[in-house]
Amino acid sequence: MQPSVTTLTGMTDTHTQVLSAYPPPAEFAEQANATEEMYREAEADRLAFWATQANRLAWSKPFTEVLDWSEAPFAKWFADGTLNVAYNCVDRHVEAGNGDRVAIHWEGEPVGHSRSITYAELKDEVSQAANTLTDLGLVSGDRVAIYMPMVPEAIVAMLACARLGVMHSVVFAGFSASALKARIDDAQAKMVITTDGQYRRGSAVSLKIGVDEAIEGLGDASPVEHVLVVRRTGIDIPFTEGRDLWWDETVPKASTEHTPEAFDAEHPLFLLYTSGTTGKPKGIMHTSGGYLTQASYTHSVVFDIKPETDVYWCTADIGWVTGHTYIVYGPLSNGVTQVVYEGTPASPNEHRHFEVIEKYGVTIYYTAPTLVRTFMKWGREIAFEHDLSSLRLLGSVGEPINPEAWRWYRLIFGADKTPIVDTWWQTETGAAMISPLPGVTHCKPGSAMRPLPGISAKIVDDEGNDLAPGTDHGEQASGYLVLDKPWPAMLRGIWGDPERFKETYWSRFADQGWYFAGDGARYGKDGEIWILGRIDDVMNVSGHRISTAEVESALVGHSGVAEAAVVGAADEQTGQAICAFVILKSHHAETPHEQMVDELRAEVSREISPIAKPREIHVVPELPKTRSGKIMRRLLRDVAEGRELGDTSTLVDPSVFEAIRAGK
Ligand code: WTA
Repeated sequence: MQPSVTTLTGMTDTHTQVLSAYPPPAEFAEQANATEEMYREAEADRLAFWATQANRLAWSKPFTEVLDWSEAPFAKWFADGTLNVAYNCVDRHVEAGNGDRVAIHWEGEPVGHSRSITYAELKDEVSQAANTLTDLGLVSGDRVAIYMPMVPEAIVAMLACARLGVMHSVVFAGFSASALKARIDDAQAKMVITTDGQYRRGSAVSLKIGVDEAIEGLGDASPVEHVLVVRRTGIDIPFTEGRDLWWDETVPKASTEHTPEAFDAEHPLFLLYTSGTTGKPKGIMHTSGGYLTQASYTHSVVFDIKPETDVYWCTADIGWVTGHTYIVYGPLSNGVTQVVYEGTPASPNEHRHFEVIEKYGVTIYYTAPTLVRTFMKWGREIAFEHDLSSLRLLGSVGEPINPEAWRWYRLIFGADKTPIVDTWWQTETGAAMISPLPGVTHCKPGSAMRPLPGISAKIVDDEGNDLAPGTDHGEQASGYLVLDKPWPAMLRGIWGDPERFKETYWSRFADQGWYFAGDGARYGKDGEIWILGRIDDVMNVSGHRISTAEVESALVGHSGVAEAAVVGAADEQTGQAICAFVILKSHHAETPHEQMVDELRAEVSREISPIAKPREIHVVPELPKTRSGKIMRRLLRDVAEGRELGDTSTLVDPSVFEAIRAGK
């Protein structure tokens, strides 16, 4: 059962202020890629509009049918067309005479480690990597796990897979060996591409050891035939003869000639695991033609890309969907020059991002609200020491951006004149869905505004009735955000689990045939959309999706824990923070609580990732449950956020809260 939208307590206060809109600057509007006309065009004939966008790409065989929705919710877009995704991202720019344009200005975390790669060089490297993968036995349809920090080879590896019709499954390098193991196993990946180690805040730490641990953990059932290792840090790592290969000893020896094969538009492109409402991550499946169409189109219109002059920087990691769509496939398909930065924003100090903007003359900067709030905390003086005048457009993604952070971002980064595009989308949607169009939209700080041309979304109540537009005073109801028409970059399923795909996204409004996004939202007075956040059991910590069930299962994996309940509580810095409530087994009754809490935080870090470490863990004697045995997370959230308790009438034993509060 989906929780009710009334669980959105505490999330609306920053959104209910009466806010003035920011019109696009006239100079920006005059040169903008996007126009008001696009909304009308898409409205008049949505499929013809998408056909036009798809034809921005190079097709080996043109498509004749735009959408086949006859087997809904399994969509087919441009199904009889064929194309090669990597050719579209690399070769065609070289063929168009832009081989000398820089594709990637790579900036390593240690100052001084940097490298610029042109489109011609990228083509050579991708071809060499594709030839290497072929030599190692990979064929179209196979899966490769990519477990790498933000190095150019990670992007080369993704494109080499795409070129061969091999699916990549990128696993965030901050994930644990145990998380990697589960993903290798689920996808049955034949190869892992990794690095010896990675730089994290100035020191080199091993990554390859995690790969070994994951493969060993799978034992005889391991599907991995080869591990291809990029030498990044030079640290000592164990090597398994016959299985492991150094990238620098194999890839550069391969030929730079490689003829890309054309694949069906619906040929699978990648898998990306994301948290759902159960403990088991879902392998979200994306395919080629539709995904690339929407990635490329949205990147061009939302970021107003001018490939000849722009220097674009998206600060995401390729381990997340933002890195897939707005570092790899969107920007490269549009042939723009971009910055790729390996490290953390405070390495070696808080000036790093500003220095990178200055060094490369970044014109478009796309980041997450949590980072904007971090910059705010560090103080505007840092930004003032740098020349940020090259910036002409700013973007935000991953969670609702609070109006205060929005205004600060525009004022300090954008000299109070650059438009900000607040892009709402998901791993599942593949590309941006709701966002202002810079040059067209009058933006309201904190609102993602309206669906992009070609996209249809609405906010409905429990029964699926449309909500009315809001008023000036913020008393309007919140509802469910649904996508009521298929879109080209939509997920095509969950790897190996079609039933879970239907159940997760399509069952809430099955009668209407709508996709339910898992987010609550409300309309503002001009009909603009305000996203309020997840209403399922998924938390959003610094823009990272983590499910309560995943953390709970890591906690109960500790021998001392009898039961655990996890909630996301509002946090000024990270949007939400993870708060856990645990009941200890009796044999641990005497263990000091602080010691248990330390052990449990370490356990979560080991099982999932340091990013999933709870901010607080409370040892409690009992958990609040309904008569049917369901833990009432809403009440725990009230406790975690220090609020008066909501309705406790369905609790078996309302007095548990005295005990919980006493323990807190
Ligand atoms: C949230 C990241 C408000 C939302 C691209 C969504 C946002 C989840 C925004 C998907 C935004 C993302 N405003 N909320 N602009 N962008 N979200 O799969 O809750 O990592 O459902 O994709 O992030 O997270 P995911």
